[in-house]
Amino acid sequence: MANEALFDKLEIGDLDVPHRVLMAPLTRSRASQPGDVPTAMNATYYAQRATAGLIVSEATSVSPLGKAYAFIPGMHTDEQEAGWKLVVDAVHEAGGLLLLQLFHGGRVGHHDLLPAGEVPVAPSALRAATQTYVSADSGMIDVDEPRALETSEIAGVVEEFRAAAERAKRAGFDGIELHGANGYLLDQFTRDGSNKRTDEYGGSLENRLRFPLEVARAVAEVFGPGRVGYRVSPSGGFNDMQDSDPVGTFAALADALSQLDLAYIHVVEAFGPVERDEASAEAIRNVFDGTYIANGGYTGETGSARVGSGKADAIAYGTPFISNPDLPLRLKTDAPLAEADPATFYGGTEVGYSDYPDLTASGAL
Ligand SMILES: Cc1cc2nc3c(=O)[nH]c(=O)nc-3n(C[C@H](O)[C@H](O)[C@H](O)COP(=O)(O)O)c2cc1C
Repeated sequence: MANEALFDKLEIGDLDVPHRVLMAPLTRSRASQPGDVPTAMNATYYAQRATAGLIVSEATSVSPLGKAYAFIPGMHTDEQEAGWKLVVDAVHEAGGLLLLQLFHGGRVGHHDLLPAGEVPVAPSALRAATQTYVSADSGMIDVDEPRALETSEIAGVVEEFRAAAERAKRAGFDGIELHGANGYLLDQFTRDGSNKRTDEYGGSLENRLRFPLEVARAVAEVFGPGRVGYRVSPSGGFNDMQDSDPVGTFAALADALSQLDLAYIHVVEAFGPVERDEASAEAIRNVFDGTYIANGGYTGETGSARVGSGKADAIAYGTPFISNPDLPLRLKTDAPLAEADPATFYGGTEVGYSDYPDLTASGAL
């Protein structure tokens, strides 16, 4: 067997996971319109990848105001819940585990994506130097300047996360991953470059962590903490993010999440041009008692070495899962990997989505 360390089984919180090759969350922008509803085509795509140790879904908005990009799915309407149930049932039928990645885009947004008269909301009215995809006509365009959430509005956003988790539970998901990475609302509150608030949700580190921890607690109340994970990207500058002390900030967040008994922390250690950040990875590993999932640029060989070294418990693979629905089997047998085509990452049809070949029948692993 190749890449052996990846193929021991693992308990992640309450979940029995057959091996350590996990599927990272991947936005594919193929929800049906209008309504941002998951479809049978999405169910096929996820079921094809059910031999992953577990699958984390694409980022899914908890509310209309959380919609950061065109064509992404939501989890705040009955239609979306029914669409997701199709996906969950297909993955379960194929023997897989599926977590829903819940997020709110915050300042990564544009009024054309939102209900009439609304602008994106954020901890502070600071426009990010980043872009979003609004429509096929406009392509990528600059995000809006957001408005700062009123203190009195924040509890309502926490409740949106709770309500989306309740829908996920009804739809049969195995758990929730909170998207605290890559510059969306949870991350915007966490880092001091985007959170300049002067109320109890900003300023000190303790205050900046208040909203993320309220969300984590609410979702853990719905599913039990053993079915909830949290994703961070301590060193990632994607979506114009900065923090004056990323190691300290994210170690404190991981410590607090550990005290809530969350099942796992999922660390984007490298994404795109960013170098792997060993200092924050190690600090998080040291304080978080649950499972440590590493992500970002791993191959079978480097992932197996990372797990073998004890620095991570499992590896989440993103891009490799786009083009290799049977990735675990390929890593186990050292089979060649297919290259993913970036032109079909976001939006479109089955092409570049559910038409990547499987080397053998699924369930072979
Ligand atoms: C097409 C695409 C969509 C992505 N969508 C999400 C997402 O919805 N949520 C998220 O947390 N990360 C998202 N990411 C980041 C990936 O989960 C992962 O961190 C990144 O691809 C690096 O891992 P890799 O080297 O294994 O691909 C996305 C990445 C790509 C390429």
